[in-house]
Amino acid sequence: MSQRSCLSVILAAGEGTRMKSALPKVLHQIAGLPMVAHVVKAAEAAGASGLALVIGHGADEMRKAAAKFAPKAETFEQEKRLGTAHAVIAARAAISKGYDDVLVMFGDTPLIDADALTLARRRLAEGAAVVVIGFRPPNPTGYGRLIEKDGKLTAIREEKDCSEEEKKIGFCNAGMMAVAGAHALKLLDAVGNKNAKGEYYLTDIVEIASAQNLDVVATEASFESALGINNRAELAQAEAIWQQRRRHDAMLSGVTLIAPETVFFSHDTEIGPDTIVEPNVWFGPGVRIASGAKIHAFSHIEGATIASNCDVGPFARLRPGADLRNKAKVGNFCEVKQAVIEDGAKVNHLTYIGDARVGAGANIGAGTITCNYDGYSKFFTDIGEGAFIGSNSSLVAPVTIGNGGYIASGSVVTESVPDDALAFGRARQKTIPGKGKELRERFASAAAAKKKAAGADH
Ligand code: UD1
Ligand code: CA
Repeated sequence: MSQRSCLSVILAAGEGTRMKSALPKVLHQIAGLPMVAHVVKAAEAAGASGLALVIGHGADEMRKAAAKFAPKAETFEQEKRLGTAHAVIAARAAISKGYDDVLVMFGDTPLIDADALTLARRRLAEGAAVVVIGFRPPNPTGYGRLIEKDGKLTAIREEKDCSEEEKKIGFCNAGMMAVAGAHALKLLDAVGNKNAKGEYYLTDIVEIASAQNLDVVATEASFESALGINNRAELAQAEAIWQQRRRHDAMLSGVTLIAPETVFFSHDTEIGPDTIVEPNVWFGPGVRIASGAKIHAFSHIEGATIASNCDVGPFARLRPGADLRNKAKVGNFCEVKQAVIEDGAKVNHLTYIGDARVGAGANIGAGTITCNYDGYSKFFTDIGEGAFIGSNSSLVAPVTIGNGGYIASGSVVTESVPDDALAFGRARQKTIPGKGKELRERFASAAAAKKKAAGADH
């Protein structure tokens, strides 16, 4: 089957009024990726090499977004929304290139899995002209019903056109179809609009094809994979299902999730075996974790690379460009942005490291801040191997601490420190014998005098 070429036509022209949003419906995200991009991924995983995106509502925004999530896709604007068949025909130029298989998919069905599409393509390879992906929703109301006779699909009837008898059918149209490229345009062009809604229904090609004695069949997909998103409650439902699937995959691939339901992945999170993720951890986009890392509770991680055996959190925030090398440690209430923490370096408590390198084996004391920003520009802090930064130091960038450099606690470091030097960036301590006692006595007698004066007033 791999030799058969495949075009995926993804319908995404609808307005999605029920989202109540300025953003086109299919650009709302699941796991940090627009739902239509999930559809594109599934199409590609099922072997589609051609991608045609039918857009309409918010066309400019859609084109801009598509250039990012599907740079290879061709976009086709459907100016008037006259129905799903009319929408597919908008991509006529792509379809007429002569693909073996044409997969018609909806942009608002983000959980569709590649297996369901692959199965439909297999039926085409076996000789079917039209394969409809069906499913059995708990409540079929609103869906097109699949009318079968002797194992063949003879028609799809939209809810509004169904007889009372037909409404009792539980097997429904998920909306997606695989059509043999050789027949696709001929079938689509034969669709009319004489129905309850006056629309050109894609589903009519079933009746048209079976009247021509072409082979038309239905396959069955899970309810979840056919879930269409119309409002934000359904969006959250799809997110929950997506997360559940991802957690399951992570655990089966060797990742320990102590409380899986509290860990949230992004569409592109990569996480290696023997990593342990404690409860309440959030992964934003662009996170790669090698094996054997420990991610402690309540950490928020995005755009970060974490090498083997690193230790992160609890309550760590890794922002884009955080690059933790082997056995690096970033502890509680630390924020790291655009910085390399080299092998075995430790940033253990209450620290901000931004635009910096922390050399291998260096130790960053509690409360250290890289002052990387002057309100206009960002500057770099370079901390050498084995350096020791005393607690509560401010490193005012641009600044370099040499290998083995030693910074006294509480320093404000404005000048670079050479290798193995000790730097104090604070006033020297002065100790005056007996002065503490003297002060205490003076303050006590002043307070007593004040109290006495207040008493005399009454
Ligand atoms: C469609 C199916 C129905 C199926 C259901 C599954 C048809 C005629 N009906 O109904 O059998 O059970 O999906 O969810 O296909 N679109 C366009 N341009 C148009 C019309 C629609 O791009 O002119 C897009 C929409 O944005 C949407 C998709 O096509 O992504 C489906 O259209 P929609 O109107 O939601 O179809 P349903 O009535 O849900
Ligand atoms: Ca719909």
